[in-house]
Amino acid sequence: MDQIRVCGGKPLQGEIHISGAKNAALPLMAASLLTDETLTLTGVPHLADIATLANLLVQHGVEIGMNGEGAACDGRELALKASYIVNTTAPYDLVRKMRASALVLGPLVTRCGEARVSLPGGCAIGTRPLDLHIKGLQQLGAEIGLENGYIEARAPKGLVGAEIAFPFVSVGATENLMMAACLAQGETRLVNAAREPEVADLAKCLVAMGANIDGVGTDTIVVQGVSRLHGAHHHIIADRIETGTYAMAVGAAGGAVELIGASLELIGVVADTLRAAGLTLDATDRGLHVTCEPGALVGTDVMTEPYPGFPTDLQAQMMALMSVAQGASMVTETIFENRFMHVPELSRMGANINLHGASAMIRGVPRLTGAPVMATDLRASVSLVLAGLAASGETTIGRVYHLDRGYERLEEKLSACGGEVERIKAAR
Ligand code: UD1
Repeated sequence: MDQIRVCGGKPLQGEIHISGAKNAALPLMAASLLTDETLTLTGVPHLADIATLANLLVQHGVEIGMNGEGAACDGRELALKASYIVNTTAPYDLVRKMRASALVLGPLVTRCGEARVSLPGGCAIGTRPLDLHIKGLQQLGAEIGLENGYIEARAPKGLVGAEIAFPFVSVGATENLMMAACLAQGETRLVNAAREPEVADLAKCLVAMGANIDGVGTDTIVVQGVSRLHGAHHHIIADRIETGTYAMAVGAAGGAVELIGASLELIGVVADTLRAAGLTLDATDRGLHVTCEPGALVGTDVMTEPYPGFPTDLQAQMMALMSVAQGASMVTETIFENRFMHVPELSRMGANINLHGASAMIRGVPRLTGAPVMATDLRASVSLVLAGLAASGETTIGRVYHLDRGYERLEEKLSACGGEVERIKAAR
């Protein structure tokens, strides 16, 4: 298995191109199942998760054309055409690799009147059930059974609009049900819907495909069902998690980097938090300029919350950054019950972190020291890269397949700015 080797202590200088958002690209790809015409997506990041979902869609019958393969920073173009759905089963082998595969459930059942989607099973950051997706589809009139580890959904006469009030915010359930509602009869109201920019990006694309959606970006989304959707072109928004991660890399290593294509608007609370922590962030005409002077980092508390709060997907990176800030900080995770797997690894590098239930108390140390560490999940793995940039000596990170799910050419992007980060290929 490949490893990432980081030699810390070198400030970052230069520019980094921010890719299209993975968490927008995946639901957008699933939306191609809603029409027999071509959905063209541009700015698609080159990531393992994109390939995993493409494999799933192909076995449902989607033809996928690809342009821009290679090192282009602005991502590739995918043309997805689901003329015929040849198979409505999403098998365990593919779904267990990536939970976002469950996003095919809503589109398949609303277009074909049936879907059989494997339950994803456990994952490193928590139990993450799909009960809100299932209840919502039942409210839209689907009959649902759970058989042999599969959700079996049936709506032979089509779905019918309804009011669905979520007991708490779920990004995936909002996306799945919004897609399902597009082809349902009548009006669907999604109350306490997720307001994440990636949900809004999906809604924008669905509207371009002929859907009738109101309230995008608010907590009440109203969909008037239409009888069919058509093809569209859609450009994917910038990845706000990648933006926040590289901004924090500048904090960890020091230096000055322009994040090309990044949007300050997309990272509101994150930008406020990073400024409070001692970084300088300024919008430029190409993106965002981030600087951090030596010794500027100060302990800053964060609590993860649904958007517009601080994202859970930046919690691990923030903890790495706070490990080398002056003073103490408290990081509280409210979205997932088990998203602290990076703590023992950061501790191996000299971080002073105490866990108390859903909160971690971090007492900043002047310097971390490099060590061999293990990636445990996608965002945890990049937190170790950040810690490696802040550390003296060499850090090697194992199980980097986690990193490859969500960060495109990370070692190239960082080393182009002077970071000593390289991939050590496993002997094959
Ligand atoms: C979540 C994050 C998203 C992040 C992604 C990957 C939130 C609100 N969601 O999205 O920002 O990009 O993980 O890390 O921050 N849940 C249920 N039943 C359901 C659906 C969800 O109990 O049917 C729970 C989950 O276990 C979790 C919470 O609700 O505790 C939010 O989950 P959800 O937003 O659906 O997860 P993702 O869509 O994966």
